[in-house]
Amino acid sequence: MDFDQVLANRQSIRKFKSTEISDETIREILNLAQLAPSAGNLQAYKIKIVKTEDGKIKLKEATFTRSFIKQESVLSAPVLFVICADQMESEKVFKTRGSDLYAVQDATIFAAYLQLAITAKGLASVWVGSFVEEDVRSVLSLPKNLRPIIIIPCGYSDEEPKPRQRKNLNELII
Ligand SMILES: Cc1cc2nc3c(=O)[nH]c(=O)nc-3n(C[C@H](O)[C@H](O)[C@H](O)COP(=O)(O)O)c2cc1C
Repeated sequence: MDFDQVLANRQSIRKFKSTEISDETIREILNLAQLAPSAGNLQAYKIKIVKTEDGKIKLKEATFTRSFIKQESVLSAPVLFVICADQMESEKVFKTRGSDLYAVQDATIFAAYLQLAITAKGLASVWVGSFVEEDVRSVLSLPKNLRPIIIIPCGYSDEEPKPRQRKNLNELII
């Protein structure tokens, strides 16, 4: 798959086959994704990989209680990557700009690369932002300095993605 195809093929998938993903493939995906740029090359993010039924049930409960979107099938994917901003790590170098902005940007850019790496490996994913951070932090026992920013469920697609609309470029270029 060339890069243009990776970009075109990455579409949000919300239904996954139960087929497992090997640890080797997960490592290959993470190794590609961590090529993403980060402020001062600090890579001020941490990744929690949730694969157990127990972990997924806890995350579903956490997101079901107070989320706007119910994520049942999405959070049943074989692997859930929970991307957290490591605010303290960035703060040490960049002060409040690091804790308030750069750590979040590092985590966000990593997640975008992660979705592309997943696509390049013939797998699918979706970006899940609709959750209450405190609830996710609590069920995963994350330390206070880690802010859960994005959950990326990943697996083999079990749905045909719908054609998607994008704005006309004239609306974006000002
Ligand atoms: C910041 C952000 C938050 C999102 N949160 C959710 C979410 O909680 N649940 C979900 O199903 N999709 C979520 N999405 C996915 C978007 O709905 C999706 O990317 C958008 O509709 C465009 O479709 P595409 O990804 O197929 O191009 C989120 C995307 C972004 C960037």
